[in-house]
Amino acid sequence: VELDVDMRASRDRPRTAAPANPAADADAFDANDLAVVAGIVRMEPALDPLSLLAAAFRNSAYGIAIADARTNTLVAVNPAYAALSGRTAEEIGRIPITELYPPSERDALMENIELADRVGASHFESRLAHPDGSTEPVEADVRVLRDAAGAPRYRIATLRSTRRRLDTERRLAEATHRLRALAQRLEDVQESERKRMATALHEGLMQSLAGLNLGLETLKQRVAELPAGAPLCAHVDELQATVRATTLATRTALDGLHPAGLKHLGLWTMIEHVLARWSDGTGVPVVADLRERPTLAEDASLVALRALQEALTNVGRHAHATRVRVASRDEGRLVELTIEDDGIGIAPGDRDKPGALGLLGVSERLRSIGGELEVDRLRPHGTRVTLRLQRPRATATHRLRTTRER
Ligand SMILES: Nc1ncnc2c1ncn2[C@@H]1O[C@H](COP(=O)(O)OP(=O)(O)OP(=O)(O)O)[C@@H](O)[C@H]1O
Ligand SMILES: [Mg+2]
Repeated sequence: VELDVDMRASRDRPRTAAPANPAADADAFDANDLAVVAGIVRMEPALDPLSLLAAAFRNSAYGIAIADARTNTLVAVNPAYAALSGRTAEEIGRIPITELYPPSERDALMENIELADRVGASHFESRLAHPDGSTEPVEADVRVLRDAAGAPRYRIATLRSTRRRLDTERRLAEATHRLRALAQRLEDVQESERKRMATALHEGLMQSLAGLNLGLETLKQRVAELPAGAPLCAHVDELQATVRATTLATRTALDGLHPAGLKHLGLWTMIEHVLARWSDGTGVPVVADLRERPTLAEDASLVALRALQEALTNVGRHAHATRVRVASRDEGRLVELTIEDDGIGIAPGDRDKPGALGLLGVSERLRSIGGELEVDRLRPHGTRVTLRLQRPRATATHRLRTTRER
């Protein structure tokens, strides 16, 4: 009953305003906190407040060390701290603090201690050196208690092992790396499979369509020689028109499957084709400024074209735009291609939507060849997608120069 009353009393009592620098004030024991302790103590007369606090210190899962700021030696450590440093409390008491850390960590440690002395507290990551040469990664909080003159008197360090977190981070980084490699492999397989299919269809279907057209041409000439040939000729014309439309549709589909033209037409002409076709298909006008036409390696060209296609598909699907601007910029080592629309604008978090893989795929493919993707929301509305690709190094000229220099 008494405990209840005391605890409620301590909660209801207005607490003093939080000090601007909590560490500087830490040695002023807060009477409100003590009331809770006193309440428990009164129920358990065998315990006095000090031994209760000592038990908390001893049983804390965090390593706690109290250092004398004047002599830079440890005056008290709890068992968890001793365990983190791989030593017994007695061993720790005999050596300077810095020797608990490997030489490589000592400068940073001193900087953090000085920071704590100056501003009252510091938080940092480091490693503790064990006597057997191994180390324990830790994160540490240091708080400073000052004397009446305001000089640092004691430092209280609270430490926790980061081994498990670092292991998890390392495993996560490895898993991410493997996933990226897998995604890249799948991308490569998909691309070469598409190329194989496009070639097969081109050689099969397109050749047959060309043959069909030629056959129809011959047929028309023969039919024209017949006495009642005219209506038949008109019919053959219709068939030819169908063949032409089918050829065009097939070529568009094949280009989407694999832009075979990339090799002989080059990236910039292919981009013009893609833009013209997209604009025809959607009815959205495209203003293109492609005066700067730097050369890109074949893989980079393919990535750029695929990225452009994804950006345009997104405009068609999400933007509700009335116009699109596309521009190229030659930045020397980098080539920039921007696709701007005046639509509703991409919202923050849109790229992280579950199932949205288009922009993620583009940024991964760009990353894999040393490029990058930037997506910005425009003011007052609209979206700008920026692709940055690396130019191939001018190895030939470079080699020439260095040979001459030698
Ligand atoms: N030009 C744009 N204007 C407005 N919103 C856009 C634009 N581009 C992308 N977004 C938003 O960003 C989201 C993510 O785009 P992303 O291309 O990654 O995925 P998606 O298009 O939804 O699906 P998919 O995986 O088929 O590409 C879209 O769902 C859309 O909400
Ligand atoms: Mg998309």
